[in-house]
Amino acid sequence: MNTLLASLLLTLGVCAPALAAEPVGNAAAGQAKAMVCGACHGPDGNSAAGNFPKLAGQGERYLLKQLREIKDNKRIVLEMTGLLAPLNDQDLADLAAWYASQKASTGMADPTLVSRGEALFRGGKLEDGMPACIGCHSPDGTGNAPAGFPRLGGQHADYIKKQLTAFREAERVNDGDTMVMRSIAAKLSNKDIEALAQYIQGLH
Ligand code: HEC
Ligand code: HEC
Repeated sequence: MNTLLASLLLTLGVCAPALAAEPVGNAAAGQAKAMVCGACHGPDGNSAAGNFPKLAGQGERYLLKQLREIKDNKRIVLEMTGLLAPLNDQDLADLAAWYASQKASTGMADPTLVSRGEALFRGGKLEDGMPACIGCHSPDGTGNAPAGFPRLGGQHADYIKKQLTAFREAERVNDGDTMVMRSIAAKLSNKDIEALAQYIQGLH
């Protein structure tokens, strides 16, 4: 682990929990179970519309965590209400393995917002004590799959904007006891969020 990441994790008190006995996902089994998801998330997890997040190439651990929390209503996704209720933990692990095995598509950034977005993503806001996004989400936005830090690169700007705003307003609260994303988003203005969302959409 590099020193920057180590110090960030110490500062924020984030600690990767020891890997307990987790179900082992089967991507082929997951593909068959993903039929119903494709209408919104796209057949291979690269959704067309900006309000539906791309799941392709997302880290397996992060996907499984979100699926469990959406199922348990710890993260509210109205569009998915009831959808995961009939699925057991093995089904969720299979779905996570399927989407993690798919290739993420890339997007384009609004060129007028890229430099502000890049400065925030790579440098954070030192004056406010906000760490750079790259410490956890990596410079190319692929994230850190074993740690459960999600891939952001190429994600729809509309979806990113909604998530950062939701963390800031504490409408999304499933970022753990350390409130890592809520504390970071608290330092972001609407213009910062707009610029970050555009930069991330074009990042690969
Ligand atoms: C009717 C549309 C719809 C269907 C069908 C649907 N989803 Fe979703 N899903 C959404 C929306 C909308 C969000 C984002 C909600 C938000 O903005 O927070 C989402 C979010 C997610 C996320 C979180 C992504 C992230 O980056 O944090 C995962 C994982 C997910 N869906 C998996 C699935 C799976 C697996 C299925 C099929 C079993 C499925 N979804 C079916 C609409 C749908
Ligand atoms: C110390 C580590 C850390 C830093 C620094 C960090 N993040 Fe995160 N971020 C996370 C973790 C962990 C999650 C997943 C939370 C969860 O489990 O729901 C996350 C989730 C997200 C999500 C939701 C992804 C999705 O698919 O729904 C977005 C968007 C995001 N971060 C953007 C950023 C931006 C922009 C920055 C910089 C301004 C940043 N993050 C800095 C750790 C970090």
